[in-house]
Amino acid sequence: MDKFLIQGPVQLKGEVNISGSKNSALPILFASLLTNELIEIKNIPKLKDIDVTIKLLLTLGVKIKKGKSLIINANNLYKNYILPKKLIQSIRASIWLISPLLIRFKKIKIYLPGGCSIGRRPIDLHIKNLKKLGANIYIKNEFIIASINNRFQGAYIFMKKSSVGATINSILAAIYANNITIIENAAREPEIEDLINFLNMIGANIRGGGTKKIIIKGVKKLTGGIYTIMPDRIETGTFLIAAALSRGKVLCKNTNPKNLDILFKKLKHVGAKIKIGKDWCSLNMNNKRPKAIDIITGPYPKFPTDIQPQFTLLNCIALGKSIITETVFENRFLYIYELIKMGAKIFIKNNKVFCQGVNLLYGSEIEATDLRAAISLVLAGCIATGITIINNINYIDRGYENIENKLINLGARIIRLKN
Ligand code: EPZ
Repeated sequence: MDKFLIQGPVQLKGEVNISGSKNSALPILFASLLTNELIEIKNIPKLKDIDVTIKLLLTLGVKIKKGKSLIINANNLYKNYILPKKLIQSIRASIWLISPLLIRFKKIKIYLPGGCSIGRRPIDLHIKNLKKLGANIYIKNEFIIASINNRFQGAYIFMKKSSVGATINSILAAIYANNITIIENAAREPEIEDLINFLNMIGANIRGGGTKKIIIKGVKKLTGGIYTIMPDRIETGTFLIAAALSRGKVLCKNTNPKNLDILFKKLKHVGAKIKIGKDWCSLNMNNKRPKAIDIITGPYPKFPTDIQPQFTLLNCIALGKSIITETVFENRFLYIYELIKMGAKIFIKNNKVFCQGVNLLYGSEIEATDLRAAISLVLAGCIATGITIINNINYIDRGYENIENKLINLGARIIRLKN
């Protein structure tokens, strides 16, 4: 695993181009298995998780032409192939193979998915919903074994938890179902809306994207088309926070500021000046130290759990005390122990972190534990006094395209030591 060597403190300021959204591109790539016609997808970010997904599709026999965009032809797939465990278990998103492969092959045997170590990450809601839609599905050892009689059956689904992944799997299963499917208490993340826009563009009949009630009318056939992935709202939020915690300023270009309301509100409370345009947003801290503020994460439109580690770091160096409450994942505080090594005054109690802002952090040798923890520790290295070495930094390549260059363009002093 590579390391980052970072020298701080620096003030991050300048412009950054936001990449396509990882969490929108992943389900859309798996959804391309639902049609036999050509699909062209633009603004796909160059990330490790995307590379793994492309490898999975190629292993299935999908033809993919790589260039500025991806041109995908899923016309002929290899039947009944047990996909490689290493690939399946390196990402959580492989769970979205289940519905398309059941539709294509009527029965599948596939390894359980992987993903960041931020919680147990069960798949009971996926299983429950697919059973409701007519699948015979169960887990045996480390496999998911499933079958359907010809087609999925439209159903009424009430989700006890607004799971992003289970909402997506249910939508994919219902596309060709022989009736109407209603998903109540569905996840409302913008990435799900992007997936629905893509599916409707190729002929699906889905209403209610971005709301708690999604209605899918089964269709007989999907066509092809060209689709552009939405900008990454988590990357946008990450760079806004990077500027705020280093008392700098940033202009995020090629983004969609419409889905960051709660973050803008919180950043204004810490003292940042925010400006918003059609496809850009900017933050200026005017060299001021941010004020501490409490955050509570939750399903969209609440505060995004994927921005919690970054905002917690901001609170670590802010003026005053704060409490960070994580309600989505049960193990998303591993990075806190690394921040304590750098001088943060912070402790964990159940799903809360209690933080007393300090004026300085100190460079140290630390470990990245998952994707969003990794970026938080990189930003900590940028503002800490002295040299910070971050081990296991490859986590960051799963979700941030070209990250060291983007940060270096904002004034960071980072080198990657390849291992
Ligand atoms: C997606 O994960 C994202 N990943 C995550 O981003 C994101 O943090 C999460 O949604 C919440 O927004 C991708 O899109 C690839 P969930 P997912 O199902 O689908 C529990 C990142 O950093 N749950 O909404 O796995 C689950 O354990 C990643 O980009 C069940 O109990 O999230 C968690 O506590 C990290 N049973 C909560 O629901 C289930 O069957 C939310 O999970 C499924 C989930």
